[in-house]
Amino acid sequence: MPALPNPSQNQLSIRWPLPPQPGLTPPLRLGVLASGSGSNFEALVNACRGGVLEGAAVVQLIVNNPGCGAQQRADRLGVPWQLVDHRQRSRLLLDQELVSCLQDSAVDLVVMAGWMRIVTPVLIAAYAGRLVNIHPSLLPSFRGMDAVGQALAAGVRLSGCTVHLVAEEVDAGEILMQAAVPVLEDDDHSSLSARIQDQEHRLLPAAVALLGQRLGSLAQG
Ligand code: GAR
Repeated sequence: MPALPNPSQNQLSIRWPLPPQPGLTPPLRLGVLASGSGSNFEALVNACRGGVLEGAAVVQLIVNNPGCGAQQRADRLGVPWQLVDHRQRSRLLLDQELVSCLQDSAVDLVVMAGWMRIVTPVLIAAYAGRLVNIHPSLLPSFRGMDAVGQALAAGVRLSGCTVHLVAEEVDAGEILMQAAVPVLEDDDHSSLSARIQDQEHRLLPAAVALLGQRLGSLAQG
């Protein structure tokens, strides 16, 4: 898929809000996991408040780094947030705590928006088919850490971002949507990251809307 146009020119034909869905609490309740700056979290909140995700709501943000940008954005945006610090827990206990928090908030669909922890089957099974991740490369290229650096080191001329379902193998679940981004001759890490992030902020809400539609159709039978 080519780079998405501006939202005002967005030609994606996504039907939203969903009609009432048995098995889904209207509106679709989103939980977001974030470790860093939180720009994708903010894009999701904005999309719920008048964009492609109108009719959904981000009901909870969970961060693992105290005081991170995502937490500060949540304060500004008025979204409830919770700190679940990975430093005090094993991977398994971290994910058990995440599931417990997400279930307490009756979350329907979980978005890993810059969640820099490897997740375990505990979280994946609790939200099977309802747990998505965004990754800054055209998967299956450049899985794992520093995908932008990997793309620059490999000298590719096309990179991008991917939203996918989370599976046990890192960055390997079913691909929901991708956006391609050119790598320019004079790009450095920061310029390429910025160009990819512009597309992420459009792609992530669109992919979540797509998955919401799919879950709605499944619930309808
Ligand atoms: C995003 O670019 C996302 O693709 C990446 O972290 C950034 C978070 O930015 N995720 C990964 O690399 C996961 N492997 P943000 O905090 O501004 O949303």
